[in-house]
Amino acid sequence: MTFPADFLWGAATAAYQVEGAWDKDGKGPSIWDNFVRIPGKTFDGTTGDVAADHYNRYKEDVALMAEMGLKSYRFSISWPRVMPKGRGGVNEKGIEFYSNLIDELIKHGIVPFVTLYHWDLPQALQDEVDGWESRECVDAFEEYARLCFERFGDRVNHWITFNEPIVFQMFGYVTEAHPPAKSNPHLLYQTSHYVNLAHARAVKAYREIGGTGEIGITNVINPAYPYTDSVADREATWWSESYSFHWYYDPILKGEYPAEYLAAIEEAYGKLDITEDDISLLKQAKSDFIGINYYQPSRVAANNSETSHSNGRESNTGAAGTASFCGRYRTVLDTEQFEYTKWLWEICPDALRDSMHRIKDRYGDIPIYITENGLGDEDPIVNGEVLDEARIDYIRRHLLACKQAISEGINLKGYYAWSWIDLLSWLNGYKKQYGFVYVDRENLQRKKKQSYHWYEEVIATNGESL
Ligand code: NOJ
Repeated sequence: MTFPADFLWGAATAAYQVEGAWDKDGKGPSIWDNFVRIPGKTFDGTTGDVAADHYNRYKEDVALMAEMGLKSYRFSISWPRVMPKGRGGVNEKGIEFYSNLIDELIKHGIVPFVTLYHWDLPQALQDEVDGWESRECVDAFEEYARLCFERFGDRVNHWITFNEPIVFQMFGYVTEAHPPAKSNPHLLYQTSHYVNLAHARAVKAYREIGGTGEIGITNVINPAYPYTDSVADREATWWSESYSFHWYYDPILKGEYPAEYLAAIEEAYGKLDITEDDISLLKQAKSDFIGINYYQPSRVAANNSETSHSNGRESNTGAAGTASFCGRYRTVLDTEQFEYTKWLWEICPDALRDSMHRIKDRYGDIPIYITENGLGDEDPIVNGEVLDEARIDYIRRHLLACKQAISEGINLKGYYAWSWIDLLSWLNGYKKQYGFVYVDRENLQRKKKQSYHWYEEVIATNGESL
């Protein structure tokens, strides 16, 4: 039981969460730059204006990665930094930043793994075409993707089109927790389809321009388990799997939507704009891999509402939120039976292993990357040292689950801890920490945590030290 010799030991971040420099050097505003300025939207009114100041300190950050022996760094490109209005018009200063970052990584032998969309849509596209509610946004995304492939494709061989569509769609179009903060389930499903088209158009464009690397997408996976063995809870689990798993993965990996679920939601919320040409495009645009972000499973019980539609135990209070529900099902919190993080996310490494099997069983032997996994915590500082033992324990157990999955025949090619460095947790400010590297919020100085040294050893031994 060993990890493959070329396993990508990585760590991840996202542009809005680390870069800062929100209006510097010609960058246009994103929907997040505006959203965080609406009073009450984020914990303590925190913004990503400065974030971890990675825009100015990327060299120091890459040096820390190199010192650790990190094999690969997953980061995202801010669309409005390179195309301030989302289309037609390139900001060369923005291109230069990513170009320098990529060069710096390569110089240190670190493989860049690039996400094109980690939620920071250019505000101009929201204003001019209603963002993902429109097919014009799909066109704009293809233009942006082509720009990135052309400018960075000579050095970047690993591309993720979108990060966690389920999250920005559920929070953006149902719970109103993320921009554009609307509440309309029909839009949730419609934007979901347009985002799938945008993904497919980018995959096609990548092949057309002769890209020789790999391209895929990252979804979150929360494998569902019935809370009790009752028929009602098992039926509810079908709804949960249909929505949070099959609805998002089928169009990408099979080129179709789960028929029964599609019929049910069209009945509840109205017909969707999905054409035959769309389906044929989805079928043509084969992904080279699937990226999965895994944090927790769902314990699912029946819910009586046929139409209400929301989920996610996310809050903006700096603390854990309340239980979530999604029409026919709700997810149950049971602190007697299960283990949880401080933010009430269940800790269950075996569900990560099971997730990979669920993917293989349904879609065949597609290569998998764990593109995110990690522990959100408030790390103890003792005599000036950040002793994040809980994070070490969390990641160690999940990596052992990965190792077991590999021995069971899962084609797992890399693991990216979330996150490389402490960063903005969207709604919960800087209070919820995930990184191997601590950032002093007063002076933005970096400090290696205990987990930094631990992961260094894991990488050096290719996982044998686990
Ligand atoms: C997934 C998202 O991709 C990332 O941006 C976020 O910070 C983590 N989950 C933790 O919530």
